[in-house]
Amino acid sequence: MNSNRNNQIPFEEDNYTHNIRKNNERKLDRRAFMKTVAGAAGVFGVSTLPWGALAAKELAGFGGKKYERVKIGETAKLKVGEALEFAYPSEHDTALLIRLGENEYKAYQNACTHLRCPVFWDGPKKELVCPCHHGFFNPQNGVPTAGPPRRPLPEITVEIDGGVIYATGVKRYEA
Ligand code: FES
Repeated sequence: MNSNRNNQIPFEEDNYTHNIRKNNERKLDRRAFMKTVAGAAGVFGVSTLPWGALAAKELAGFGGKKYERVKIGETAKLKVGEALEFAYPSEHDTALLIRLGENEYKAYQNACTHLRCPVFWDGPKKELVCPCHHGFFNPQNGVPTAGPPRRPLPEITVEIDGGVIYATGVKRYEA
């Protein structure tokens, strides 16, 4: 073994950092960092664009989502001023169908738009009521009229065909 190599600096310099120009290195670091940040922001922005557009369409009710036509009741079994519960479009989406007049039916998903308590139909008072925090909704359009809810109940479109009442779709956040 060569003891000179192990115990001595292998060239004639008084330190190892003679070739580092710190100011230039800092500039390069800052530039590289800014490029990375700009690149990451660009990639993030571009990759989230489609999801933002989809969410905006869905919230505006223009999603073009296809719903099945599902039988939810019969006109002969629902008197004016009465309501019946059903689920639409999935079995987890509880809803209310209300017969407001001889030929006037309205249906809403009945998870309160405040904190999702079930909304009930108060027939004698002709009101949609959320008992959790005293929220009230207009049965004509689902718009909140009192209490903490700020958004309307999603309306379910209905069709009457031969005395049978069908749910045909969900309008979201339309006043
Ligand atoms: S959950 Fe309906 S008013 Fe709060």
